[in-house]
Amino acid sequence: MKKNPYKFIGPLSLDKDKLVLVHRNADLERICEGIENGEYWGILGPRQIGHTTFLRQIIDKMKDIFPLDIDFQVCPRKEKHFYLWLVQEFIERIPSEQTEDISKKWEDVDSASKFSGFLKEFKPEKDIKKILLLFDEIEGVPRLQNFLKIWRKTYISGDPELKKYTVVIAGSSELVSLTEEKTSPFNIADKLYMKDFFPEESRQLIEGPFARLNIKIAPNAKEKLLSQVNGHPQLLQHACNLLVDTANKEARGIVEKDIDEIINTLLKTNDSIATLEKDLKENSVLNTLVQGIFAGKKNPFHIHKEFSTRGAGCIVEDNNGNCAIRNKVYEKFLKDFLGTPTASEARKVSANILIKEDSTSTYFDGKPKELLPYAIKQIWVKNYYGIKETRVLNIPVNTQWIFLTGENSFGKTVFLQALAIGLFGDRDEGKILVGDDAKIGVEIRAKGKNLRNNLRDKGFKKFTHFAAYGSSRLEIQSQQTKNEISEKSTTTYGLFNTDGVLLNIESDLIIWYYKNDPKFEIVKQTLLDLLPHMADIIVTKKDEVVYIEKENQNGETYVPLPFNKLASGHKSIIAMVGDILIRLYRQNPGILESKELGGIVIIDELDLHLHPKWQRKLPELLSLVFPKVQFIVSIHSPIPLLGAPVNSIFFKVTRNKDDGIQVEHLDIKIQNLLPNSILTSPIFDMDEITQVNNESLDEVRTEDIYSKIIENDKIQEQLEKAAKSPRSSRIKGEKDKK
Ligand SMILES: Nc1ncnc2c1ncn2[C@@H]1O[C@H](COP(=O)(O)OP(=O)(O)OP(=O)(O)O)[C@@H](O)[C@H]1O
Ligand SMILES: [Mg+2]
Repeated sequence: MKKNPYKFIGPLSLDKDKLVLVHRNADLERICEGIENGEYWGILGPRQIGHTTFLRQIIDKMKDIFPLDIDFQVCPRKEKHFYLWLVQEFIERIPSEQTEDISKKWEDVDSASKFSGFLKEFKPEKDIKKILLLFDEIEGVPRLQNFLKIWRKTYISGDPELKKYTVVIAGSSELVSLTEEKTSPFNIADKLYMKDFFPEESRQLIEGPFARLNIKIAPNAKEKLLSQVNGHPQLLQHACNLLVDTANKEARGIVEKDIDEIINTLLKTNDSIATLEKDLKENSVLNTLVQGIFAGKKNPFHIHKEFSTRGAGCIVEDNNGNCAIRNKVYEKFLKDFLGTPTASEARKVSANILIKEDSTSTYFDGKPKELLPYAIKQIWVKNYYGIKETRVLNIPVNTQWIFLTGENSFGKTVFLQALAIGLFGDRDEGKILVGDDAKIGVEIRAKGKNLRNNLRDKGFKKFTHFAAYGSSRLEIQSQQTKNEISEKSTTTYGLFNTDGVLLNIESDLIIWYYKNDPKFEIVKQTLLDLLPHMADIIVTKKDEVVYIEKENQNGETYVPLPFNKLASGHKSIIAMVGDILIRLYRQNPGILESKELGGIVIIDELDLHLHPKWQRKLPELLSLVFPKVQFIVSIHSPIPLLGAPVNSIFFKVTRNKDDGIQVEHLDIKIQNLLPNSILTSPIFDMDEITQVNNESLDEVRTEDIYSKIIENDKIQEQLEKAAKSPRSSRIKGEKDKK
């Protein structure tokens, strides 16, 4: 019986598994050179590609640098315990100079910032000039973003005390987003994508040990094996292990049919295949993608790149930049699992359908009562301007406010436009809004039923309870036009153009006024509710609407003013809310009370033209007057978020070269945050919120409200005065004597 050298569970040992170890020399040299130059590295790749083995190879090659390798698969999951544990790892495993009891000194390290302090003060033994930190299974770290930010600072700081560290982290799925994007904390690192073995390496891995063991393998059997596993490290080791067992058991060489047999065994027992099955069950996007590939559809790799590093990593890039299945063993498993698509299924897959099935109903706090007659549940956009593919799934149906944030020109408007097209269709009053290759799918909850809209699909139903506002919205129609829809006032025009014209609520008010229509009073009251400084709105004898403002304290009123004389903040609110009212009344015939109007309203740059006080109040006021409307808005400042109602959710829009515009759901409880913390939270992601012109950090005011600053300044002034007065110097003198 010959000892079986092939190993397919766990990382390889550089000593014991020498015979079956592939060196990956090119990658190894590249990364070691980078480490010597002080670079940090992120090692990415799917599960079982050999991360851990590779980390061992790096340690082995970088003999002059002291290594500390930590596997985060097993570590405390609470941040405060985690850092204490990490300090212990450092202290116990790196010989250090400190004579005092350092464990004691650092026993209160319970946060990322305290850990940063530790890193600075920690002194290894003199001989240790550099420490190579190798972090494996990085996904196990609690609040990973914070952890990575520590190393970002260490890298950037230029502090000589921190120069001693070099960091290499390894992981699979999440590491991509943590290292790649413009806003990712670890984007300071160089990246290495681990790939399958080169054909020559795979060939060696079969031939070397087989020759050593004196087992013959027929050339066609060997070629078949190579073509089936295509360099997948763990599949190849497992396959060879099974073949050595067969040769041992039957005391003969390996022939072609043995390959078919062991592949069947792999399909049932291999770990990477089990991971692949899990990937498919968890991710319907992957499912659709694979079916598309089988149906001969071309899917650009850059859009689906995540599936090359996530889980079993079943997607690779072919020579034309499209997605392909990583190897034939995976392919066979996928076909068996998904079933070969029939011709008609294949056609369906290649149609424009992005949202194929109803999503489950998602409620807030499990309350099944739906407050909003119309609400968006899922949005899926492909190939629309800067969007390559992005999706937002499972929005709770009682979400009244959806806030979009993101740096300027980061695609908030593009996303809102795509959403508008998904709701309303690709044309508005004959005008074409979007090119042919764009695909947009939107699922809406409409009066208790799910409505699935895929652009250009036969079943597409225009969603009409809808209004949309772009960033220029001060121009309103003249009264003479009687709010007829013109080219510049179609439903979506303002969102796509800068010269949109809003419908004029004053025209309708005048008509209602003369007809004694109860809507006059209702709409007037709605506008007054929105504008606390407004005492009244009246129709004059000259058929003109005028606005009467009031003084804050004593209720004294000012001279009546026409719309165009009002402050721009008031104008923008009256104009927009007026337009919303007109459209929603037309879309909800039979409804009299404005509070009963249902629909979806998109507003780009909600905070535009508004004083901060107004920005804060607006969401609340709009919720008050339109409790049944869902608002989807983009904002630039954190202030509207201070007024975000409880059932709000937040999306961050980001953009980078590879993935295009992406929309990410932020899971943040906003109610307890002040503007400072909102700005530095992932909603706005600002690292620094001190004044650009501020020179000394000591002088930054940390009071939360301005009146406190004034008060503190006064106290300070009095203290200084007191310190200078003769009385205080006398007291001081007496003290000195004692
Ligand atoms: N350099 C190598 N040479 C030969 N086989 C390898 C090599 N690296 C990995 N393998 C094969 O892949 C298996 C997994 O290796 P390793 O544990 O290093 O991968 P990993 O990416 O860290 O896996 P996990 O995703 O479970 O953390 C090994 O048991 C071995 O079969
Ligand atoms: Mg590993």
